[in-house]
Amino acid sequence: MTVRRVGSEERLTTSFPLQAYAFEGSPRSVERAKEFREYLPYNEGNRTLVVEEAGETRAAVSAIPMRENLRGRVLPMAGVAGVVTHPLARWQGHVRTLLHQLLDEMRDEGHQLTALWPFRPSFYGRFGYVGLPLRRTVSLPVADLAPLLRADLPGEVGWERIGAGYPAWHEFTERCLRERHGFALFPDYRAVALRDRNERWLVTARVGGTVTGAATYRIDEHGGTLAADDLLATDPYARSLLLQFFARHIDQVATVRFDVPADEVPELWLTDLEVHVQARVARPGSSAPMARLLAVDALTGLPVGPARVRVELTGDRWLAGVYLLDGTTGALELARAGAGGAPSATLTAAGLSGLAYGVLDPVEVHLRGLGDVPADAGAELRRLFPRRLPYLFADF
Ligand SMILES: CC(C)(COP(=O)(O)OP(=O)(O)OC[C@H]1O[C@@H](n2cnc3c(N)ncnc32)[C@H](O)[C@@H]1OP(=O)(O)O)[C@@H](O)C(=O)NCCC(=O)NCCS
Repeated sequence: MTVRRVGSEERLTTSFPLQAYAFEGSPRSVERAKEFREYLPYNEGNRTLVVEEAGETRAAVSAIPMRENLRGRVLPMAGVAGVVTHPLARWQGHVRTLLHQLLDEMRDEGHQLTALWPFRPSFYGRFGYVGLPLRRTVSLPVADLAPLLRADLPGEVGWERIGAGYPAWHEFTERCLRERHGFALFPDYRAVALRDRNERWLVTARVGGTVTGAATYRIDEHGGTLAADDLLATDPYARSLLLQFFARHIDQVATVRFDVPADEVPELWLTDLEVHVQARVARPGSSAPMARLLAVDALTGLPVGPARVRVELTGDRWLAGVYLLDGTTGALELARAGAGGAPSATLTAAGLSGLAYGVLDPVEVHLRGLGDVPADAGAELRRLFPRRLPYLFADF
């Protein structure tokens, strides 16, 4: 058995066929294999590792070099995708071997975070990942947006196909990356797939020429649904401009649908709004994302609350060690800790990641078996890492 990195063209005969078997209906026509070539440019800079036995590909994993905002700092993040083992080679440890090597290499290249969309969270829990919230899908009758039609809102709306509007979209998502906790973006070679497919409309809210909100969308049919992807808005004015634009479809579609971050509360946006908000997590088809720290250095300099705590990080290939987390200046300082001094907790990688990403309270870390957190250390950790819901945005 050998593990090796495959280059661009080699994906056509190694990782892509395995991925198609695992994630698509099959068997497909031979024409399908010809389409693989079209995906190559969007995988160009990915790191793909495969296990081979007797010249046959038995398993594959890939990492996309992405960037993610962690509590205000943008850090390199390894987006793990295309995790697959040949049906005759499953349960033999291939993915364990590949994931370890993949994350070792991505970490060596400076990726301090990693995220993925799991088929089963407990599988990736073994690798130190912790759950993040799933975006909410909002559906509402377009007629209920009618009160917005005559609202006088500051700013204007831009409308075009994504193929034409891509530069404005790209610039705006870069702003979201800088400003929104948890927000992650693809590298350019992958992000441009949206532009190249050109299968979406783009609506933007603008104030003085600056984009303050945006959504890509499709309309399925007359009298049907205006289905948007993520409704991105930097403030309620931008959100209202986008909703006002949707309201203009009042005699064209029946329903408007879009996704929002988990901390949005659409039922408070308008009076008499009939709204359905859903997050559905199911195995294996519909998962919430997961993430973890790949290097403790990801914490250095993070804006945090004023607290000090000693943490022993256990059972992890990438994070193990004893550290003093010192937030007394407001920017986290990290030092190798000696004994004594600050209150002390023991954390797994998932436990520390849950705190840093703002998704778990120290008590929950303890309850979930992700650490041993005495009350005094819990109080310090809660002050250091206040709850803050991340919004991953990228889907991969
Ligand atoms: C899921 C999949 C990738 C696992 O690959 P694999 O090579 O069989 O995994 P490994 O043998 O390396 O298993 C790693 C660990 O997970 C366990 N495991 C394997 N498959 C599992 C499953 N389906 N559910 C839960 N645990 C599983 C193994 O027992 C092993 O645990 P251990 O290290 O504590 O002994 C493979 O079954 C597959 O290709 N499935 C279809 C595609 C898919 O769902 N991919 C994941 C997309 S996110």
